[in-house]
Amino acid sequence: MIEVEGLTKRYGPTLAVNDVSFTVQKGEILGFLGPNGAGKTTTMRVITGFLFPTSGRVRVAGFDVGTESLEAKKHIGYLPETPPVYPDMTVSEYLAFAARIKGVARGDIKKRVGDVSERCAIGDVQRRQIGKLSKGYRQRVGLAQALVHSPDVLILDEPTAGLDPKQIIETRELIKSFAGDHTVILSTHILPEVSKTCQRVLVISGGQVVAEGAPDELVRRLQGYEDIVLIVEGPAPEIIDKLQRITGVNVVEPREAAGTQVTLEVHAEKGHDVRADLAQTVVESGWKLFELKTGGLSLEDIFLKLTTKDLSEAQESAPSPALDIS
Ligand SMILES: Nc1ncnc2c1ncn2[C@@H]1O[C@H](COP(=O)(O)OP(=O)(O)O)[C@@H](O)[C@H]1O
Ligand SMILES: [Mg+2]
Repeated sequence: MIEVEGLTKRYGPTLAVNDVSFTVQKGEILGFLGPNGAGKTTTMRVITGFLFPTSGRVRVAGFDVGTESLEAKKHIGYLPETPPVYPDMTVSEYLAFAARIKGVARGDIKKRVGDVSERCAIGDVQRRQIGKLSKGYRQRVGLAQALVHSPDVLILDEPTAGLDPKQIIETRELIKSFAGDHTVILSTHILPEVSKTCQRVLVISGGQVVAEGAPDELVRRLQGYEDIVLIVEGPAPEIIDKLQRITGVNVVEPREAAGTQVTLEVHAEKGHDVRADLAQTVVESGWKLFELKTGGLSLEDIFLKLTTKDLSEAQESAPSPALDIS
């Protein structure tokens, strides 16, 4: 449904997107994950036909967005990073206006506005001015305008940015409900976002695709279970000594002590899942286990891991250029 081939975009001397290629199947929700400045918005603006690439090409529903932009745009709904706001318009006026400029037939506008309003749960604010709505409602109005001409492709740029936790959950549910009959690309710089919403994820960093795969596998693979943080209560030297003797445990390091509790970092050998053994050893020794969690890798660590060769165990077996972890 979406084919991106060798896409490169320069802004003067800045290489914002560097030879990116990927495809998105019909009905799929694809996540773009990457830090700020990675090139997500630029890629999305090219896909939606708002920006010309320096080189490469994009086809949506079989139409080239460069040479058949009008046809392609009929198939695309776009929620930009900062949605266009007409603060003085009411919601229904704005949606009718959006429908008109997107070529919805005059006689169908009312029904389309009603349908997308229901779908996006904004039926109760139809007569309110957009400028007076909460951020969460405004974002749903943005989604409704993206849907109003019944596009089969949705391009959503950071759709949950700036929302509160409840609004984030509602927006994710709404986006997930689009899967199947819509093909969706959404961007985010937040790791959990992709595992909550997407079926597949491209990690973008420095204008390039640096990893690709199913979100759960990606998160697990990148965060791994080899780095574990434990919080226990008991005699630290004895605990460290005993845990260090568990098969597969490489090293146990104290990180901090607070009162009677001590936080330990455990590093296991690659491929060894020592979590159950750790828990059992602590409990059977009569110490108290307060917490046991994997990870410790921040998103920055993960991007670093993906983009720095010598740090990246993941890239050792990578079929270049992108690492396919699926
Ligand atoms: N209109 C522009 N003019 C010049 N440079 C830009 C412009 N838009 C984006 N950039 C640069 O291109 C790079 C990618 O930006 P962007 O696509 O917005 O990334 P993201 O959406 O992942 O944060 C950044 O280095 C950014 O500074
Ligand atoms: Mg952006």
